[in-house]
Amino acid sequence: MTDLLTWYLENRRDLPWRKHRTPYSTWISEAMLQQTRVTTVLDYYPRFLKRFPDPASLAAASEDEVFKYWEGLGYYSRARNLMRGAAYICEHFDGSLPSRPDLLLEIPGIGPYMSGAIASLAFDYPEPAVDGNCIRIYSRLHALPVVPSEKRTYDEIYSRVKKDMPEENPGDFNEALMDLGSLVCTPKSPRCSLCPFSTTCSAHLLGKETDFPLKKPKKETPVEEHTILKIYAGDRILVRKRPSQGLLAGLFELIDLPGNLTQEEVSEWLLSILGTPAPKAEESFTSEKAPSDPTKPKADIRSLGASRHIFSHLRWNMVGYEIRLSSSSPSGSSADTSSLSDDISAMLQKLGTLVTPEEYSSLAFASALSAYR
Ligand code: ADE
Repeated sequence: MTDLLTWYLENRRDLPWRKHRTPYSTWISEAMLQQTRVTTVLDYYPRFLKRFPDPASLAAASEDEVFKYWEGLGYYSRARNLMRGAAYICEHFDGSLPSRPDLLLEIPGIGPYMSGAIASLAFDYPEPAVDGNCIRIYSRLHALPVVPSEKRTYDEIYSRVKKDMPEENPGDFNEALMDLGSLVCTPKSPRCSLCPFSTTCSAHLLGKETDFPLKKPKKETPVEEHTILKIYAGDRILVRKRPSQGLLAGLFELIDLPGNLTQEEVSEWLLSILGTPAPKAEESFTSEKAPSDPTKPKADIRSLGASRHIFSHLRWNMVGYEIRLSSSSPSGSSADTSSLSDDISAMLQKLGTLVTPEEYSSLAFASALSAYR
């Protein structure tokens, strides 16, 4: 590891927060550098420190003013956390940051990386500051097949860095890793010929630098199964409006039951809610075996086939059925709903709204269901 420190002495970046370092200024710079490029932070850091030179001044400031000094850095929760942290430091640590990593961790907004960075850079406390750079360098150095975001990766790299840390100038060691990660051991095209570890790095010796660390496995797109029912009552079609929030918000859709139901299961569902007879899958409702109760509607079910729709984060696998309800009494006309019993009409109205074909064609309809429209 002496090679790393030698490399650092020759190549370290000349950055403002490395010049007149205090625990407070280290905290501010580390907060600004989270998710933000060094070049962006360069302007903000001195301005912020000039206006808020210590925890007391930051704790006493209004949120509006602190936000003004943060404007353009983004992720305003960091500024809010700094204010909460400053108040905590004033209340619990007499206005000065503590040196021990475990006490730093008590401060709102300070996590393991930042507590390690402040303890090592500002107090010479031999504590690792494990961030993405550090994980990348160590996973390559030892060809560790680790996934960066996992807790066990953090633990593994933390203990390796801890073992490698010198007692003297642990802050230089941590900042050397930060600079090596930014300047040489970069994610996509590492400059291995400039690296102090080029003769010992396992990933480089294998010629597989960019295979480490492992990429986070992509999550499988979740799949939902739906049964879409296009229900005709006479010539009207049963539709419903989706909730005003969430997927396909506010659009119209057909009746949608969970799961991919068979025709038989759809018949059973129909029986359970409308009291219509349930034929076997191969049978039509109008077949001779279907009891002909004049108070019950006739129902014909026909498969509309399978379809799928892929949303950005979700896949729907659908099966569709057309159901035609009509009066089973000989006098009833199948072209309107007036012949359906009041009970059935009331039940349908609970499921949705019956619309005429003209109304149906003018509705804002969920395109996911276009195969059944
Ligand atoms: N990124 C995060 N902390 C840093 C530091 N102290 N120096 C350079 N880059 C950094």
